[in-house]
Amino acid sequence: MEAAIKTEEKDVLILAIESSCDETAAAVVKNGRTVLSNVISSQIALHTLYGGVVPEIASRKHIEKINQVIEEALQEADVTLEKIDAIAVTYGPGLVGALLVGVSAAKAISFSTGIPLVGVHHIEGHISANYLSHKSLEPPFVCLMVSGGHTAILEIDDYISQKMIGSTIDDAVGEAFDKVARVLGLPYPGGVEVDRLAKDGENNIEFIKHKILPDNYNFSFSGIKTAVINYLNTKKQKGIEVKKEDVCASFQTLVVEELCSKTIKACLEKGFKKLVVAGGVGANSFLKKRLSEECEKHSIQLFHPELKLCTDNAGMIASAGYFYIRKGKGLSDLNLTAKPVVGLN
Ligand code: KG4
Ligand code: ZN
Repeated sequence: MEAAIKTEEKDVLILAIESSCDETAAAVVKNGRTVLSNVISSQIALHTLYGGVVPEIASRKHIEKINQVIEEALQEADVTLEKIDAIAVTYGPGLVGALLVGVSAAKAISFSTGIPLVGVHHIEGHISANYLSHKSLEPPFVCLMVSGGHTAILEIDDYISQKMIGSTIDDAVGEAFDKVARVLGLPYPGGVEVDRLAKDGENNIEFIKHKILPDNYNFSFSGIKTAVINYLNTKKQKGIEVKKEDVCASFQTLVVEELCSKTIKACLEKGFKKLVVAGGVGANSFLKKRLSEECEKHSIQLFHPELKLCTDNAGMIASAGYFYIRKGKGLSDLNLTAKPVVGLN
């Protein structure tokens, strides 16, 4: 569909909706950079009872909350729908039932008001969180995308075009963090708990060496995860108590060193001077520390989104949507549908 919005002449207000996993979120963002509201209704407490996200419960909770969250986002931004230039919504990847709630809400608003609709890829949203936190950040840069569902290194040449140059061949890094946390009896979502305990632990456990990968930009985390689980099971069978802090520190060190070395290698080999981190695992304090040390050593500028923009939110979806329509691309019609699995453009 042709773009119908002239973004050069006036401020552009985007209302965005995000419901790909366990946060029901809506936001209003001006010109892709200024957050006027960013409302998140988290379901974490609900899913903690089950030790992970239960898709059916997530969908039902999204339905309960979606209208309320959208209204709150408009109110907090002090705007009405008449002022909104486009509605951006995450269409994938994610849990299909959860995505459908956001996509249906966005389509309903678009249909009833005539406001244009923009479908946004969840990963592009995470990358764009950095445009909200760093007002003058512009491509090109390398992006390390680390979340519960994705782990990848991307070359970002333009606001709306990106090339994946490496990714996990098995588990996403957040998934590995959450699984290790679960086996250690830590509450969901476990990544932040592992990070917290690791601060009081020593990197003194040598887990069996994980899969050796070819010298490319791909990652593998399932071997490390399994090594930790086997270690814990063996200790348990022998009745030996483990220091959870040391397990967390040793696991986290292995994982972070893998992320860090491949990402820095990509920046150096591809000649990029800017590195941008995206996704929930980007909040990890040891990853931040190691990347900042390595970037300083190699004179690479490092960008992280603010902590609250690292994890799922709708502000980042609004920002990505804005850059699409500014380029005259990305407008969707009412055929837009939820896509649980979808690659980048
Ligand atoms: O980006 P996100 O909110 O959702 C997805 O799109 O997946 O990322 C959630 C993931 C979870 O696996 C969570 O455990 C992890 O990010 N996470 C962390 C930290 N904070 C969140 N992992 C390690 N250290 C943290 N501080
Ligand atoms: Zn996410």
